[in-house]
Amino acid sequence: MSEKRFSSILTASTLLTVLAFSVCFLLTTFLIGCAQPQPQPQPETPKETQKISEVQRSEEIPEMFSPSKPCSKCHNGLKDSFGNDVSIHSSWRNTMLANAAKDPYFLAKLTSEIEKFSGDSKIIERECAKCHTPMAAFQAKVDGEESALFTLLEKDNQYHELAVEGVSCTLCHQIENKRLGNEDSFSGNYSIDSSTFKPDRLIYGPFEPEMAELMRGVVGYLPKKGEQIEKAELCAICHTLYTPYFDEKGEFLGHFPEQTPYLEWLSSSYAKKVSCQSCHMPQTKGVRISKIPANPKFLPARSPFYIHEFAGGNVQILKLMGMNASATLDKLKSAVSVSLETEREGDKLVVKVRILNFAGHKFPTGFPSRRAWIYLKVVDGEGKTIFESGNYTANGRIIGEDEPFEKHHDVITSENEVQIYESVMVDSGGMVTSTLLRAAEYIKDNRILPEGADPNKMHSDTVPRGVDGDENFIGGSDTVTYTIADDGRARKVLVEVFYQPVSHRFLSDLSKTPTALVNEFLGNYGKMEKTTVVAVSEKILE
Ligand code: HEC
Ligand code: HEC
Ligand code: HEC
Ligand code: HEC
Ligand code: HEC
Repeated sequence: MSEKRFSSILTASTLLTVLAFSVCFLLTTFLIGCAQPQPQPQPETPKETQKISEVQRSEEIPEMFSPSKPCSKCHNGLKDSFGNDVSIHSSWRNTMLANAAKDPYFLAKLTSEIEKFSGDSKIIERECAKCHTPMAAFQAKVDGEESALFTLLEKDNQYHELAVEGVSCTLCHQIENKRLGNEDSFSGNYSIDSSTFKPDRLIYGPFEPEMAELMRGVVGYLPKKGEQIEKAELCAICHTLYTPYFDEKGEFLGHFPEQTPYLEWLSSSYAKKVSCQSCHMPQTKGVRISKIPANPKFLPARSPFYIHEFAGGNVQILKLMGMNASATLDKLKSAVSVSLETEREGDKLVVKVRILNFAGHKFPTGFPSRRAWIYLKVVDGEGKTIFESGNYTANGRIIGEDEPFEKHHDVITSENEVQIYESVMVDSGGMVTSTLLRAAEYIKDNRILPEGADPNKMHSDTVPRGVDGDENFIGGSDTVTYTIADDGRARKVLVEVFYQPVSHRFLSDLSKTPTALVNEFLGNYGKMEKTTVVAVSEKILE
């Protein structure tokens, strides 16, 4: 099918009115023949699609992806039975997935990694492109083009429109049910059909559609049921990331487990029962998944409907990009709860702080700059502070935090000690590093385990580090005991759990490579609140 003919189908079909459609539907199941031009205002031409169609491509290579805009014509403006807007395109637009290529922290970090790398920077850019600009990277690869990330993002690059979309509709929904869960699917090695042309390309969804031809007629993709879309293994492709690491001369040494939420989930009690989708796509009911056809007879409402929310914990970067971070803030707060017990033992106040993890993986999880920590304060009757552990400065540094890193604690006896839940990376020489391409292993990983995880039986790339001897560091929780000198004045104990998506270690490491994008990011991030309160507990003492 020629590009030209496809474009004319596009324009003609978008003119469809509901009436015209209903009539046509009775006449024929295939729309192309009956979509006559209507006396209606010309709909906006999907510019992105046109631009992609202009790409010089050999006859044998199909155009695999589409920007999201043409999809929004039907999959936006959706309401559930409570009247809430659950539009697919607008929900997705507001996620980190949709912004994976524009994310200023990502772009700054990438330039920083390039600065520190002595090998060919294209190697790095191609690596990052697999997940942060996946549609552009994959199409370029199939086309036999150079796929360095900054090249793909250039305004006049033929893949620009796909690149800026980050992780978009036609990426997730075209992933085939192949190799899922296998190691060779990890690190962004999704399998997507590269030989079928539109309008025969398949878009996988959770249901067997009846109105498939309607969508095919307009965008050239045929929706079809694909059970993989509901599996955690689909998410595992990009959320299990083994990053190659190198020595200072740029010599390749091996692969490092940089992000492992899926492997953490596998060892939890959620595995096989509660998928990533169940937690990250909230369910609602009574949604007609497409605006067209408007007649509910042809497309009845669906329950459950999975909202494309994909909230995680990255409140700060969403805010920095001017996105709505409220779902993410709620998600983050749902991850943990904290409780405390107190006891007086002679001239000591003993406070046991228990923190529970409700997420389906470690807390925090994902990118290694995430960290959470416990703030504890004891005050007397006048509100004067007797003891304080874990306060922080405006630039996000935790007071009392040791260099190069604070070790894990089971018992805390001094204000200089603080419990920080984090992963700390070291290079092949054993030095603490924040450089992704130098990280060889973790020297510390005391992120709180998900419920049901047994530290001794976890996947070898996710075993906790530096927690030896702490018997209450178990699946789903950790307890820290604070032993505080007190002559009986203590009247109140306050505990807060804080979270930062960008730890101070990663921030100050960035400032060592002052590229233009690093300076821009640090300038803007510097003005922001870098810490979120995730959970709070308080106790008044007798
Ligand atoms: C002209 C309207 C229209 C456009 C444009 C459109 N779709 Fe659809 N789509 C539909 C309809 C109608 C269905 C439902 C078919 C059914 O369930 O009978 C559907 C179904 C789907 C499904 C399957 C859901 C399921 O399991 O039933 C997915 C996924 C999907 N569309 C994605 C997309 C993507 C991605 C794009 C953009 C490339 C797109 N759609 C563009 C109308 C459209
Ligand atoms: C990160 C991957 C991902 C991206 C990006 C994504 N989707 Fe989905 N989508 C899913 C998953 C997973 C489901 C199925 C959830 C379930 O039923 O378990 C789904 C479901 C759907 C459905 C069916 C809804 C239902 O509950 O029946 C439609 C339609 C759809 N997506 C369209 C889109 C469109 C349009 C876009 C782009 C604006 C998009 N998706 C972006 C993963 C994705
Ligand atoms: C093509 C790779 C890819 C696939 C497939 C994918 N993701 Fe992601 N995901 C990403 C990238 C890239 C980011 C954000 C990058 C950034 O922060 O710049 C992300 C971000 C997220 C976030 C937001 C995290 C935050 O920091 O707040 C959640 C939640 C998430 N993904 C869940 C899922 C789920 C659930 C699935 C499966 C249905 C899935 N993803 C499939 C690549 C992917
Ligand atoms: C039981 C519910 C639950 C399940 C199951 C679950 N998650 Fe999460 N996830 C959460 C919560 C709560 C958070 C927010 C806390 C955090 O950021 O760690 C989160 C955060 C995340 C983040 C963002 C971390 C960040 O840096 O902001 C990613 C990415 C993610 N999950 C991916 C996944 C993937 C992939 C799966 C499946 C293998 C999965 N999740 C399964 C509840 C869940
Ligand atoms: C296998 C997929 C994959 C590859 C390859 C990948 N990333 Fe990511 N990246 C992700 C996902 C998924 C997230 C979001 C995780 C989370 O929120 O915890 C992310 C998040 C990030 C973040 C944090 C962004 C934020 O807003 O907090 C940075 C920085 C980053 N990646 C840099 C890179 C660099 C540099 C490369 C190339 C060397 C790279 N990534 C390659 C999947 C990938």
